[in-house]
This record gives sequence, C-alpha cells and structure tokens, in this order.
Amino acid sequence: MTRRRRVYEGKAKVLFEGPEPGTLVQYFKDDATAFNGVKKSTITGKGVLNNRISEHLMVRLTDIGIPNHFISRLNMREQLIKEVEIIPIEVIVRNVAAGSICTRLGLTEGTALPRALVEYCLKSDELNDPIISEEHITTFNWASPQELDEIMNMSLRVNDFLSGLFTGIGIKLIDFKLEFGRFFDGDEMQVILADEISPDNCRLWDVATNEKLDKDRFRRDLGGVEDAYQEVARRLGILPEGGPSDLKGSSSMQ
Ligand code: TMP
Ligand code: ASP
Repeated sequence: MTRRRRVYEGKAKVLFEGPEPGTLVQYFKDDATAFNGVKKSTITGKGVLNNRISEHLMVRLTDIGIPNHFISRLNMREQLIKEVEIIPIEVIVRNVAAGSICTRLGLTEGTALPRALVEYCLKSDELNDPIISEEHITTFNWASPQELDEIMNMSLRVNDFLSGLFTGIGIKLIDFKLEFGRFFDGDEMQVILADEISPDNCRLWDVATNEKLDKDRFRRDLGGVEDAYQEVARRLGILPEGGPSDLKGSSSMQ
C-alpha cells in the first residue's frame, strides 16, 4: 500500500489525504492530552472507541438534518470524512456548570444552568484557546454573522438532540465542544459540523450517581478512564465486535 500524505496532526487525531478529492481520512489515536498538552498519556482503546462513538453520533445527527463531515467508517481507527476549511472557533455548549466556567465565574460544579449556554473560544494552542465573544468573531472575520447564526442554531439543535439521546441511556450531557468547517461543493459553500463528538470533548455524567464517564477522569486523575469510555460505548450499543479485547484495534496508520 502506498504511503498516504499526512495533512494534519493534532493531539488526538491525524488527518490523511483521502481517496477522492475533497475527502480526508481521520485517524483516532490513543493519545490523550489535557491542559493544552501539558499533561500527556495514552488511553488504551480510546481511538477505537472514539471512532465508533463519533460515527454513531454523527450518523444520528445526519438523520435529523444536521450536516456534518462524516462519510463512512473505514476500519477500527479510521473514518472517511469530507474535507472542510476549519473555522478557527471552538463552540462550547453547557447545560450544567463544570470545568472552566466554575473557576472563571465562581460557580459550583453540578449547578444546572438556567438555559443552555453557548460560549466561543479561539482555536489557538499558542494563546491557550482564549474565550471570545461573537463580536470578536465577526470583527476579526473568523466567521461571518450569517455563519455564526448557523453555527449557534446547529449547536443548540445538537444539544437538544444529544441531551435526549444520552438521557435515554442514563447519561446527563453536562457540556461539550464542537467545531465547524466550510465545505465547498462547486460554487456552493455550506457550514457543516466537523471534528469529533466523543468523551474527549463532552462531559457525561451517570444520571443516578453523577459518576464521570468522560475525559475528566484523565484530566483529574480519577482512574478508570478506559472503563468510562467503554461504558459510554456499551450504553450506546456500539462496543466493537470482539468486545473489550478488540480495543487495541489494528493500527492502519502508515
Ligand atoms: P472547559 O470546561 O474546560 O472549558 O471544557 C468545556 C467542554 O469542552 C468540555 O466538555 C471539554 C471540552 N473541551 C475540549 O473538547 N477541548 C479543549 O481543549 C477543552 C479545554 C475543553
Ligand atoms: N484538548 C486539550 C489539550 O490540549 C485538553 C482538554 O481536552 O482538556 O490538551
């Protein structure tokens, strides 16, 4: 097999050139980082699980008309996606106070917010992803007012849908981060959901016990990280065919 061109490498994923123009292959690593790369480790099987979890959620979002980059899963760690021009903004939707909003605003973790809150951060490792307002986004032309409108509407629809989906499997969707990109099809441009949706970029708490089933187990050294990701996949009904023993997955990264 010929060596593929590596287009981009992030902390948890690698993007390779895809088989057709306008496509990419998204490879999910087991690498985990926190605090902007200061804390680093690997979580065995995370890439395999996130590949599956993100596929499952993106497909469900396609079903309800949220356009996204997912095309098909290729193997244990890779999926084919549409190539987009990433909009350099991280969109965070919060239902319950947790993480940075608690330190920033002095809130107690676990406090329900009066309504879903959308926050934006600039996607910049050098600047440590600073929080920004809509005014910053349009002033510096990171997204147009119309794009921002679509991003906000899609993010809230994703929140409504995923909140319901997770409630159905005994999980509270506390918050999550989304990224969007511009997909060019001839003369047409469409803003679509990109990146991934997984326990790496969502906070997921068990409804009954408030047990954390997400990357906070790694960020905060709570232990049971692999088990938490597996539990989310299990409840979604998508543990890999061979069960937990299959989680290492073939590494087709080349
Ligand atoms: P925060 O509370 O640290 O701001 O995180 C809010 C949500 O965004 C949480 O679900 C984790 C996710 N997130 C990412 O996906 N990437 C990041 O770099 C950070 C800081 C948070
Ligand atoms: N993505 C962040 C990092 O850069 C970590 C996080 O999710 O908290 O390390």
